[in-house]
Amino acid sequence: MDNSFAQDVLNGLSSRPKFLQSKYFYDKKGDKIFQEIMSMKEYYLTNAEYDIFTNHKAELLELFSSGVEKFRIIEFGAGDGLKTKVLLEYFLNKKADFEYLPIDISKNVLNTLVLDLKNRFPKLKVSGIRNDYFHALEHLHDNDEKVRNIIFFLGSNIGNFKKEEAVSFLKEIGSRIGKQDFLFLGTDLKKDPKVILDAYNDAKGITKSFNLNLLERINREFGANFDLSKFKHYPIYDPQTGTCKSYLISLENQVVEMADLNNKIEFEAYETIHTEISQKYSVSELKEIAQKAGFKMSYQFFDERKYFLDSVWELG
Ligand code: AVI
Repeated sequence: MDNSFAQDVLNGLSSRPKFLQSKYFYDKKGDKIFQEIMSMKEYYLTNAEYDIFTNHKAELLELFSSGVEKFRIIEFGAGDGLKTKVLLEYFLNKKADFEYLPIDISKNVLNTLVLDLKNRFPKLKVSGIRNDYFHALEHLHDNDEKVRNIIFFLGSNIGNFKKEEAVSFLKEIGSRIGKQDFLFLGTDLKKDPKVILDAYNDAKGITKSFNLNLLERINREFGANFDLSKFKHYPIYDPQTGTCKSYLISLENQVVEMADLNNKIEFEAYETIHTEISQKYSVSELKEIAQKAGFKMSYQFFDERKYFLDSVWELG
């Protein structure tokens, strides 16, 4: 049994208001549902970033390789690497000297990615690192000025941190990289609230099943008896703060047993469990965050609709 998951579940569900951390979405089933989310038409984020890479790969290569002998792409939360493959393929075709280190918490996802990359690009220097973001930071210590480390943090993964947590995480990255290194950050931007809400509340209910999988996972792993039909998936978006939050709402008074944890959780009708935050930023808010974290935003790459931004940050 994964102890920290058990402790976090007990802690989150006995808090008021109740919460569960979104990092626990990603078990085998959650990974699979997230793949489906990324290919939904409502979830514009993936396509927007894919377009940015396709349209700007030449500029990116020039930028990444300028002034250094080689570069090293270290991708946090690499997932299926679908978007990154566009760049890897182009960089290989242009005979750039680089290596790729994908980092992901899911062993499953990482093994599939590395195997696929080795098949697809036999010449690619790739090694996968199985770790969470915080431990992954320990891999950033090589400070050879002729080699540029480029930390890829894509897909608006930074949006799953609260703003203050994002700043401290970025500061931590800043404290471990050199002046020649880059952070390459993919962030979802503020836009028409309806477009954002639809991305987290798709018509087919795929995101709903993603959110509910947290309860299913607790059923599977801790012998709990959550009845999924008694919980509603409910995302909200505040256009002022740019915060999109997802909840699970108990539709009635109920008691859920978690047999393997020797615990019972009581819910009142319409009591919430907060499960995720997906923060959206404006460009000026992001520049402020860069500054607070000790960086400067040096280059910006947008998709055509300006829904999404990939920016290059250097130590400020
Ligand atoms: C992984 N992360 C950036 C996604 C997001 O948009 O916050 C996770 C997700 N949650 C619901 N849909 C997608």
